[in-house]
Amino acid sequence: MNTRATFGSKLGLIMASVGSAVGLGNIWRFPCEAGENGGGAFLVVYIFCVLGLGTVVMLAEFFIGRASQNDSVGAFKTLAPNTMWKIVGYNGVLAAFLIFGFYSVVSGWTLEYMYQSITGNLKADSVEEFNETFGLFTSGIFRPIMWIVIFTVITHLVVLSGVKKGIERASKIMMPLLFVILIILCIRSLLLPNAGAGLKFFFYPDFSKITSKVVLSALGQAFFSMSVGMGCMITYASYFNKSINMPKTAVSVVTLDTLVAILAGIVIFPAVTSFGISPAQGPKLVFVTLPNIFQQMPFGSLWALIFFLLLALAALTSIISIHEVVTAYLHDQYKMSRRKSATIVSLCGFAVGVVCSLSFGILSDFKILGFTIFDFLDFVTANLMLPLGGMFICIFTGWYIDKKILKAELTNNGTVKFGLFSVFVFLLKYIAPVIIAMVCVNQLGIF
Ligand code: TRP
Repeated sequence: MNTRATFGSKLGLIMASVGSAVGLGNIWRFPCEAGENGGGAFLVVYIFCVLGLGTVVMLAEFFIGRASQNDSVGAFKTLAPNTMWKIVGYNGVLAAFLIFGFYSVVSGWTLEYMYQSITGNLKADSVEEFNETFGLFTSGIFRPIMWIVIFTVITHLVVLSGVKKGIERASKIMMPLLFVILIILCIRSLLLPNAGAGLKFFFYPDFSKITSKVVLSALGQAFFSMSVGMGCMITYASYFNKSINMPKTAVSVVTLDTLVAILAGIVIFPAVTSFGISPAQGPKLVFVTLPNIFQQMPFGSLWALIFFLLLALAALTSIISIHEVVTAYLHDQYKMSRRKSATIVSLCGFAVGVVCSLSFGILSDFKILGFTIFDFLDFVTANLMLPLGGMFICIFTGWYIDKKILKAELTNNGTVKFGLFSVFVFLLKYIAPVIIAMVCVNQLGIF
């Protein structure tokens, strides 16, 4: 008998997957990467990566998860017993820990900004002042860590309340709300003086700016934003029931995820040019730009509060999915109770989070290959572990798995249409793995 938990409704399931995909990756990381990598040129490469590579990996993960009904390691053990393929699953579990660490730091920042807007302190006379406040806060010890604790405890409680009650219910309400507020912010941002220059930066591709670094960053960002490459969608798909139309679900998730990223760009870049901020600020871009926008709106503090609340919630539905990868792994593979597995994950994830947070302050001189710990984890996971994981997921599904089984699972035994199946298989076997390999090899400087 199959006693595995499943998502309750079709909408709930799409919302949970969208909840995983839409998060800090779209609103914080995407503008930051686009700003550092040439704006419009980055956007073009990014969209190409989403459509040609990310979607393919997502569908492959959906297949692996639902066909095996297992966690990211167990899935490979089930579909390819006694082979090395389970290493792809282990790569995912490790990536989950590392991502959990820096993700919880930035999630903590959203709570601080939420708190500041409640107390009415999210005000400054100049951009420099916002910059300074941000620097002072993030380089501290106690405050950022306190927020990580609070955020981790909330995550822990939601994960413990289980798939259906916790994850699904939370996503269903929060995602649509986030969407609405983003659109309001877009309108506000577009009405700022000199907004046009920001739009031009974001949408007008200057192809001479496309370098191997830009391509790798776009690839990494696409995978990060779509939650693919490390078994997150494998884990979620293991909770899908057998009547779900997976190709359609993937398209919905990808569309919404990309839409939110682009909306975030439309909020940030006009404001960047309007306030005379450099788009290449790195992780602080959003936290310096947004308060400026709010300050210029009537009831600014209220808008700021709503926005950072929703951003924190979007971060929550994403980090839950990262947490779930490891929790499901411990639960399924070591037969630990959910409570025990979740506790281990929360504690270890918290430890990584603390180290990441301190790398903005007392550990800022500690560098790995020239990166601070935070930047290093961000770089290694998004630009290396996810693309490589994604590449092996494609090779596994494209070459190892029998095409009849693949087609049967993706079409629910022929009951739903998947017209582009042969295109999908072609991308899966030949295009995606080759392009990912080329980008990674190129970036590592082997050629
Ligand atoms: N996609 C999420 C975001 O954009 C983050 C995330 C959730 C993630 N699960 C993941 C990233 C799995 C990589 C892998 O914020």
